[in-house]
Amino acid sequence: MENDILKILISEEELHSRIAQLGEEITRDYAGKDPVILGVLKGVVVFYADMIRQIRVPCQMDFMCLSSYHGTQSTGNMVVRQDMSVDVTGRHVLILEDIFDTGSSLDYTYRHVCSKNPASIRICTLLDKPERRKPGITLVPDYVGFTIPNEFVVGYGLDFNEHYRNLPYVGVLKPEAYQK
Ligand code: IMP
Ligand code: MG
Repeated sequence: MENDILKILISEEELHSRIAQLGEEITRDYAGKDPVILGVLKGVVVFYADMIRQIRVPCQMDFMCLSSYHGTQSTGNMVVRQDMSVDVTGRHVLILEDIFDTGSSLDYTYRHVCSKNPASIRICTLLDKPERRKPGITLVPDYVGFTIPNEFVVGYGLDFNEHYRNLPYVGVLKPEAYQK
């Protein structure tokens, strides 16, 4: 698995120190608000597990699952495979995502959460690839871990055909790994 990695883009140490900083910001911003921390499965799981432990205010955890993505190409067709289970009416919702790429999934998630009448919605994405943004996507993430160039990345929850999610860092695959 590690042999398929061309380069490490973000190391474990960089991930952990940036997540600690984000945690401090979020802890300050959500004091007294009892937010619902909503993870979008499944790419977010590793980031979510580390992030939630840096949020030092009372909060609730929830998840939803969308599907749309195949290989390295997004189809843009979204389906809610699993909806959230907490009633977020009148609640402060913080959406956690692994990556803001074309923006389709987060745009869809944002509107889906909006339809449930929360008190507020903010977005925290570990990675942002602004160069890939689809025209017409005006959504801007409130918290960004790292802004990255237009390269397909794996690890720390991110996959290529469901593999590499368990790598502890964010890396770029060797071109030959895409042929597998
Ligand atoms: P978007 O809808 O194009 O913003 O894509 C969002 C989803 O596509 C993410 O939640 C990821 O699951 C997947 N994705 C986008 N870029 C990458 C990447 O570089 N590596 C792995 N998955 C990605
Ligand atoms: Mg995802």
